[in-house]
Amino acid sequence: MVENNNSKKVRRILIIALPFILSTLLINGCRTTSDSAPALDHPLAFSMGAILNGMNLGNALEAPSPGDWGVTIKPEYFETIHEAGFNSVRIPVRFSAHAGQAPPYIIDPKFFSMVDDVVKQGLEGDLTVILDFHHYDEIMVDPAGQRERFKAIWKQLAEHYQDSPPALYFELLNEPNQRLDAETWNTLVKDTIKLVRTSNPRRKILVGGINFNSIESFAELRLPSDKNLIVTFHFYKPFEFTHQGAEWIAGSANWIGTTWNGTPEEKKAINDQLDLAATWSAKNGVPLIMGEFGSIVSANEDSRQRWTKFVARETERRNIGWIYWEFCSEFRVYDCQLNAWDAKLINALFEK
Ligand code: BGC
Repeated sequence: MVENNNSKKVRRILIIALPFILSTLLINGCRTTSDSAPALDHPLAFSMGAILNGMNLGNALEAPSPGDWGVTIKPEYFETIHEAGFNSVRIPVRFSAHAGQAPPYIIDPKFFSMVDDVVKQGLEGDLTVILDFHHYDEIMVDPAGQRERFKAIWKQLAEHYQDSPPALYFELLNEPNQRLDAETWNTLVKDTIKLVRTSNPRRKILVGGINFNSIESFAELRLPSDKNLIVTFHFYKPFEFTHQGAEWIAGSANWIGTTWNGTPEEKKAINDQLDLAATWSAKNGVPLIMGEFGSIVSANEDSRQRWTKFVARETERRNIGWIYWEFCSEFRVYDCQLNAWDAKLINALFEK
């Protein structure tokens, strides 16, 4: 991946604030879970269908320009992914870097057609395709200034894909953070879903909570009454293990060598988090998906396998689908140069 780009720099700066974010999260998590306001105005009104076992095609279309981060999505990847046992792919796309800065915020047709090809290849490959609006950095710092643009981009996407098969899902926004606080985000979610629904009355839409799609943020998420919403969360705990040495996380070099041994304490920490998620889901009648989970390629191999297998099985046990982060970059399970899977890691994803 090319390291020299603005987004990763911004991300690095953001991460300096991580201890603050984490402590806010902890405090908020404790406060709001006991604060039992219902998040929805409809009870148990969903059916999830088959559990998704998916792959994130990361570091491709969400780079500032496609290819900047060393991954280009090739048509044959979809067959490779399908044959390995996955039934879905998530496509992170930085639409904000390819849309006008002034109304009507037109998405660049050349880029749009590149996204189209990828979506089409995924659907033709018999995969559920989650089209995810990723790395909209500007909206995290200026939600008021970007909300109309965000909605205008979604209007174009929704109208463009309205006749696509139901296997195409939309994901409103990856990892809301910073100034996208709960109240601002809840309002934006409500308005954007309303707008998408005018052209796509029943398409599945994924929505996550604030603070980088944390589980704790569910407590503050307020969703409109809609049977076709799926709530997504990202899971990278323990962060010191999954992100050891990640060049975009300040201080992570100190974590190099952290292992995950599957001790009762380590397992309990993960199970407690997943229980929190599953309890919220049952109470509010909304299905869940773990839209990202994974560990960095430089972490200890055995630990990666143990952690991956444990997290995947424990989510499935709670009827939660998962999407591995990611295909062939820093958290990879596939080598795009050698065109080969990491046999042990992929086995860990699926072995019961
Ligand atoms: C980000 C990636 C990052 C990954 C793990 C994703 O949501 O978009 O840049 O590598 O999380 O931190």
